[in-house]
Order: sequence, then structure tokens, then C-alpha cells
Amino acid sequence: MSRLTERDGKVIWHPYTQMLTARPPVAIVRGEGALLYDEDGREYIDAISSWWVNVHGHAHPYIAERVAEQLRSLEHVIFAGFTHEPAVILAERLLKVLPDNQSRIFYSDNGSTAVEVAVKMALQYWRNRGHKRQKLIVLSNSYHGDTFGAMSVSVRDLFTEPFWELLFDVVVVDAPVGGKGNEALAQLERAVNSDDIAAFIFEPLLQGAGGMIVYDAVPLDRMLALCKEYKIPTIADEVLTGFGRTGKFFASDYLINKPDIICLSKGLTGGTMALGATSCTEEIYEAFLSDDKRKSLFHGHSYTGNPIACAAALASLDLFEKKETWDDVARVSLRQKAFVSAISKHERVRNPRRIGTVMAFDVAAKGKTGYLNNLRDWMNDFCIDRRVIVRPLGNVMYLIPPYCMTDSQLESVYSVLTAMLQELPS
Ligand SMILES: Cc1ncc(COP(=O)(O)O)c(C=O)c1O
Repeated sequence: MSRLTERDGKVIWHPYTQMLTARPPVAIVRGEGALLYDEDGREYIDAISSWWVNVHGHAHPYIAERVAEQLRSLEHVIFAGFTHEPAVILAERLLKVLPDNQSRIFYSDNGSTAVEVAVKMALQYWRNRGHKRQKLIVLSNSYHGDTFGAMSVSVRDLFTEPFWELLFDVVVVDAPVGGKGNEALAQLERAVNSDDIAAFIFEPLLQGAGGMIVYDAVPLDRMLALCKEYKIPTIADEVLTGFGRTGKFFASDYLINKPDIICLSKGLTGGTMALGATSCTEEIYEAFLSDDKRKSLFHGHSYTGNPIACAAALASLDLFEKKETWDDVARVSLRQKAFVSAISKHERVRNPRRIGTVMAFDVAAKGKTGYLNNLRDWMNDFCIDRRVIVRPLGNVMYLIPPYCMTDSQLESVYSVLTAMLQELPS
């Protein structure tokens, strides 16, 4: 039997990959903690939590046990007209940890669908109440997923360019990054002063795919207060920021003004299974209650609220009840902070930043600095050749480790990044 990598090359089309020029994928056969092993037995440190999803480490024995138990009793059931215990308990437990204005959980099966549901909830909330409000306000640099609604509420960039003409119109206001808080607020004030605005969607405190951009809670809070004043529902996309990433359970926990709708995925199952959840306030939910069936939220997926995925999420929540998990979040956050300060003087490092367990910096590069910058592939290959898994966004280098990453694994990652900075091509 030939190697997995070669067989893959004959049959698989990979996401976000130029299949003609990309180097062959690494075939991973096993994971343990922060480590992954390829088909030749080589060990890699997963410094990006496998597309930002894994929080407790790979093949976590406790999650595996709970998932296996669930598999033996109920693997799946249609979620319209039926329910099951893992979904009910998970909703009850999520509502206990989410901001306390949240009152209902709508399940789907990934981050983009969690966003689609949020967008539909907001638009239909107005329609069900007899208003025609159809525009969403979005932040510059935002990324909310790859389905059409999620692309529409994301910034028009390289990722969505082939579809720009097909995406619905949104109002873009500056993200309140750096000193731009006042300007962002002024732009938002102009935007909400229209009777066509249905909602404001944002990635709280950390804009991920847009370049790992970190911003403060205070200016965002002012923007949310303004939306509240104008009765515009707010949607926090916590797909990336949820479950400890920013140091608290949710990035919304840093805010005084709580969002009306919250999107969850990625870390929801500890990174084990695909699951999405969109929570909302009672007020949003009540707008859908009617004798008129046309006011229902007609949205669902075959795997909505899958019991195995819910069991994985419940096991992950159990781990979040352990003090050690939060000790790890604090330990990784501190290590990241120290590394950011250690590299901040390097001549090629720009805008070093960190929030919670996430650190990022831009690498000064000649010419284009976007996603297609050649440095991206060089940095990526440099680290992967040294067995550290990264996935730079253009010239933006970042680390999003699982919280179980040990100090010595973190040190290995840092020394590879430091060597990378020393050897950067000009
Ligand atoms: C903030 C945010 N929203 C939505 C998504 C889309 O999630 P998924 O890839 O599960 O569709 C992502 C994925 O990176 C994300 O970072």
C-alpha cells in the first residue's frame, strides 16, 4: 500500500489550498495532548489547535470515553419533532455559562452555520414583527465563515472575491482597533441612523482570519451601548473566541453590554466533533412564536444537534469545570505574554499582540503583505519542517495552542519561531 500522502494526492481536494502548487499534505495518524504524529512516526507540536478548535488536547481520553459511551446508546436522531438528553443537558449547561441574557440554544453543525442561523434570526426577527429591516452592520477585517450568508457579512477580501457580486449588501464600519474607537463609534452612529438596519455582527476582541487583530472591550462596549439605544440586535461571533481562548469563558464576558445573539462552534466540543450553536435572548425567540407557521425559523441540518457531538461538548464542559483547565489557560496566557515581549524588539516584528492564550505579530515584508505574500509559505514551511504546526495568515504569524501544551512544548515552539525570525529572507 502506498503512503497516505500519495493516495490523498490522487483523490482529495483540500480546503483553502491551491492544489497545483501546494506541497503534499502531512498525513497524521495519531494525536496525544498537544502532539500529532505523521505516518512516518514524526512528532509535531500543534501550535494552532488544528484550525483553532482543539482546547484540551488531541484524543483526550475523557472525551473519547464519553463519546464512545454515547455511540453505544444513540448515535443520531432527527432533531425536528424529536430531542435527546445530550442536547437538552448541553443547552442547559451552555445557558449557565453564557451571559445571563441568553435564553435559547439553536443547534447547527459548524461555525459558518452558527453564523447563518444568527443572521437569519436577526433578519426574521424584524420581519416577524412587521418591519422591513434587511441590512447588517459588519466590522472591517471581519470573517464569519464560508457559506453565502457568512461570506456576505464578512469583509470583501481575497477569500470571497469570486462571489462578490452575489453577496448581499452590508454596511461596513471600522473595527475599533488601535486609536480608532471614536471613529468607529461615529461611523456606527451614522449607520444605525437608518430604518433599514437589522443587526450588528462582530468578532468580539479578536478578529481571527482577518489577521488576528486584537482590540479592546471598552470601544466595543460603547458600540454595543449605541446599538441598544437604537434597539438594533447585536450578534457576537464567538466561534473562535469562545471556551477560554481570550482568558475568560467567552470574550463577551469582558463586556458590560451583552450581545443579543451569540454564535459558538470550534472549541464547543473541545475540538472533537463538528457542532454549531446559536444562542439568543428571550426577546429574539419570542418574535418567532405565532399561530402563523410562516413565522417559524425554517432552518435545520441533517446533523443538527448530533448526540455524539453534544456528548463531546458535555465532556469538554466537564473539563472546563476543573480548576486545572483554567490554571492552564492562565499559564499559557502568561507564557504567550512573555514571548510577545521577548520578540517585540526584533527588527522584523511589527505590532506584537496578545489576548488570552492567543499571540500574533506581523512580519515586516517587502511588497504585498496580504494572504498571498510569499513569506507566508516560507514561514509555514520553515516551522512545519521543524515539526511545529502553524498556519500564517499572509505575513501574520500567530500561535493558538491547546491549553494543555506543556511549558517545554511552548519553549520548543518559541525557539522555532525565534530561529525563523533570525533566518527570514529579506
Ligand atoms: C470568527 C469565526 N466565525 C466563523 C467561522 C467559521 O467556522 P467554520 O469554519 O466552522 O465554518 C470561523 C472559522 O475560522 C471564525 O473564526
